[in-house]
Amino acid sequence: MKKKIKPYEIESLISEKEIKKRLSELANDINHFYANTSKLIVVGLLRGSFIFIADLVRELKIPVEIDFMTVSSYGNSMESSNNVKILTDLNTDIKNLDVLLVEDIIDTGHTLDQVIKILKNRKPNSLEICCLLNKYSRRETNINSKWSGFDIPDEFVVGYGIDFAQDNRHLPFIGKVKQ
Ligand code: IMP
Ligand code: MG
Repeated sequence: MKKKIKPYEIESLISEKEIKKRLSELANDINHFYANTSKLIVVGLLRGSFIFIADLVRELKIPVEIDFMTVSSYGNSMESSNNVKILTDLNTDIKNLDVLLVEDIIDTGHTLDQVIKILKNRKPNSLEICCLLNKYSRRETNINSKWSGFDIPDEFVVGYGIDFAQDNRHLPFIGKVKQ
């Protein structure tokens, strides 16, 4: 069978080595920040954060529970929507607990703005955000992240869990899509 050629190229933006190094720095900060926490609930937004969260939690030295949420996303397009729906909710009751929300990318900020509102209503003891990638120039909300892996330009990126039309999540590096 002939291999299907993709109608775009992927150019490396952040290497596997750079990601690993930055991840250790983030985990160090998070370990210090939560040093006196009896249990941290790490909440991953699926699917984009699954590799990031898997690597991050293995560097945490504090008691951790992990849960996931799925919210509606881009579908197969490259444009964000500011009407976010919960598709799969947490199993954990986060009331009075310390919650760290882990996201792959903050772009306009609409997704996190709405997820944060929903989670705050459940009265956690604390709620912070850790994102892998940050597109500051695209922001349309006041959302910001306590921890952020890399600031990136306004490019569509894939790899390390992040997809374009469900493809390329398995790439070990982060690359930009060139059409
Ligand atoms: P926001 O609501 O505009 O902040 O969009 C955030 C969500 O859009 C992230 O969770 C990603 O899933 C997705 N997203 C934003 N930029 C990209 C990108 O460059 N590649 C793939 N997904 C992206
Ligand atoms: Mg996402």
